Amino acid sequence: MVIGVAVLGATGSIGLSTLDVLARHPERYRVVSLAANRDVEGLHRLCLAHRPLVAAMADPDAATELARRLAADAPGIDVLAGANGVTQAGSIAEADYVMAAIVGAAGLLPTLAAARLGKRILLANKEALVVSGQLFMDAARAGGAVILPIDSEHNAIFQCMPPAFGGGLSRVGVRRILLTASGGPFRTWPADRIAGATPEQACAHPNWDMGRKISVDSATMMNKGLEVIEARWLFEAAADQIQVVVHPQSVIHSMVEYSDGSVLAQLGNPDMRTPIAHALAWPERIESGVERLDLFSIARLDFEAPDLARFRCLELAYQAVAAGGTAPAVLNAANEVAVDAFLRGRLGFAAIPELIDRVCQALPVEPADDLETVLALDARARAVAEQSLPDGV
Ligand SMILES: NC(=O)c1ccc[n+]([C@@H]2O[C@H](COP(=O)([O-])OP(=O)(O)OC[C@H]3O[C@@H](n4cnc5c(N)ncnc54)[C@H](OP(=O)(O)O)[C@@H]3O)[C@@H](O)[C@H]2O)c1
Repeated sequence: MVIGVAVLGATGSIGLSTLDVLARHPERYRVVSLAANRDVEGLHRLCLAHRPLVAAMADPDAATELARRLAADAPGIDVLAGANGVTQAGSIAEADYVMAAIVGAAGLLPTLAAARLGKRILLANKEALVVSGQLFMDAARAGGAVILPIDSEHNAIFQCMPPAFGGGLSRVGVRRILLTASGGPFRTWPADRIAGATPEQACAHPNWDMGRKISVDSATMMNKGLEVIEARWLFEAAADQIQVVVHPQSVIHSMVEYSDGSVLAQLGNPDMRTPIAHALAWPERIESGVERLDLFSIARLDFEAPDLARFRCLELAYQAVAAGGTAPAVLNAANEVAVDAFLRGRLGFAAIPELIDRVCQALPVEPADDLETVLALDARARAVAEQSLPDGV
């Protein structure tokens, strides 16, 4: 049987890597839908290459333009518009698997809808899980969805965990998770130099080639903070069972420490096609196009403790996990506004954690019992963050 795959966030870094892996296995997979925000040029090109049944664009003008172009050169493709169109693209009956690779909380509703329908979710969009944690996991369980992590660290942890994990780490003999971090481009920079970092410097990651938002998150180490929250939900781990380990070579993608003292690690070249291929084929293995790991040229592996004084965002994320409820949603929303403002030149690098902290302090922590409450706090956090931005820069 050929498996139908929906790729949400198709024009992005993860989306393109996914399509690269899928194209290597036409006998196994068929691209049934593609979705993006406003990159008409990119999605049009992908539609011609992969011939999905459905293409969706969140931006209605972009969708209109895509429909105009496809009417001329690929008339069979159904073009959908707006956030609902994107959700539909991930929910169509022909999609067995959904690659959730939209960046930010915008990915939450389409991913949640696909999880409720019981599809295999290839979860790159960590923000969806950070925002809605328990609700998301409950929806997936109720729908019978399998969630396979795409974040290289969580995919590594998944590979090192015992097969039937759940119900807490100690139940399956796991003591803790060792979540590795590259440390980002500013790992060795002193605080005063980090404070003046530019968007170009923040986006120049030493090991990974990623979208701009996650690149800035890596530079502030908020990415690791979001990943702590993600690991908390995916593996039912308490925050104090997740140790961040800075490992500059990004060869070990994370480790799991067992109660008998064993530490299992997953290694590989830093190329997202490995976790993507793993999640697509699991429990089987397929070719991903990733180069073999050459341990002789790597020669050494280094480890450091994270520096929470220079990278305050990681500390803020731990505080949000401890606060629970809607706190991670607020943290995430404030971070999205701060990173966007930094990329637009409206906020300095050092002001990112300050802004996030201010927003987290300003809003109450409510129980995250329903989606409406979570989305309301997300919206309030964005409004407070916008109001806190410096004027007219
Ligand atoms: N890149 C990595 O190596 C990596 C690793 C681990 C996890 N992740 C996670 O994967 C996700 C995607 O990251 P990325 O680096 O691939 O980002 P990216 O390169 O910036 O791509 C983002 C994608 O999301 C689409 N998009 C944005 N807003 C949308 C909306 N409202 N509706 C529909 N589509 C929307 C974009 O479309 P347009 O092109 O039209 O704007 C683009 O296709 C993030 O959550 C990130 O944290 C990424």
